[in-house]
Amino acid sequence: MNLAGNTVLITGGATGIGLALARRFQQAGSTVLAVGRREDKLREAQQQLPGLHIRVCDVALATERVALVEWARREYPQLNVLVNNAGVQRRFQLTEEEDWEVRRQELVINVEAPIHLTTLLLPHLRQQAAPAILNVTSGLAFAPMAQAPIYSATKAALHSFTLSLRHQLAATPIQVLEIVPPAVNTDLGGAGLHTWGVPVDVFADSVMERLAAGEQEVGYGTSEEIRRASREQIDARFQLINSR
Ligand SMILES: NC(=O)c1ccc[n+]([C@@H]2O[C@H](COP(=O)([O-])OP(=O)(O)OC[C@H]3O[C@@H](n4cnc5c(N)ncnc54)[C@H](OP(=O)(O)O)[C@@H]3O)[C@@H](O)[C@H]2O)c1
Repeated sequence: MNLAGNTVLITGGATGIGLALARRFQQAGSTVLAVGRREDKLREAQQQLPGLHIRVCDVALATERVALVEWARREYPQLNVLVNNAGVQRRFQLTEEEDWEVRRQELVINVEAPIHLTTLLLPHLRQQAAPAILNVTSGLAFAPMAQAPIYSATKAALHSFTLSLRHQLAATPIQVLEIVPPAVNTDLGGAGLHTWGVPVDVFADSVMERLAAGEQEVGYGTSEEIRRASREQIDARFQLINSR
């Protein structure tokens, strides 16, 4: 993928991996629109990255997704890249009783939203030069972490959807790319849960370099291993991550 000259919409672009990707797209000469629920985080990101365009949007709500796409198409008609990065992670025991709506939100944010945003933007992207859709999945798509059962399932679903999307769009100019993070040091799931992960800048540098080199599915460290693993290796990884 050419990192320069794009107009890139990044969900969850104000923090963590999304912010690191936003910075690198900007540095490469692209325009970036960052989306999230917290306006203060979006404004902080804008201070760090002058020229960043921001929009408050809760992608859990279908009406807000539609309004987001209408705004983006109207204000940035040259929009040619969608990065489905927004995600949440909840760790819980399935035996604990909990309101279903709380659990359903993780499905909606991590799976329904990227699929809906993709669907909404496909007609527009087809008309653009060098269009691309980047989905941010996880190494947990390949070997789940049982304490995050819905999260892991959502990432497996998004990985599967990405393969189907790429296949269906093969005859179009739209590139379909997948970023498969390992544990990265961000605030995903709450501050302090991923501090042992790879530094976000190290991860983002590697990802962008490989996307620029033309790779379609990019992991790092353990997620690079697991996305290429045999069934036996996946079983061993599952045992390892769930024995802690
Ligand atoms: N960090 C890791 O170890 C790791 C590993 C594998 C995959 N990933 C994936 O990487 C992506 C980015 O996560 P991160 O690690 O960078 O954590 P993060 O800093 O918590 O980023 C998640 C972003 O998503 C946004 N978001 C969440 N729900 C949203 C909603 N309903 N509407 C709009 N925006 C929403 C958040 O902003 P608001 O809260 O302001 O809305 C936040 O900016 C996620 O898809 C995650 O699953 C991360």
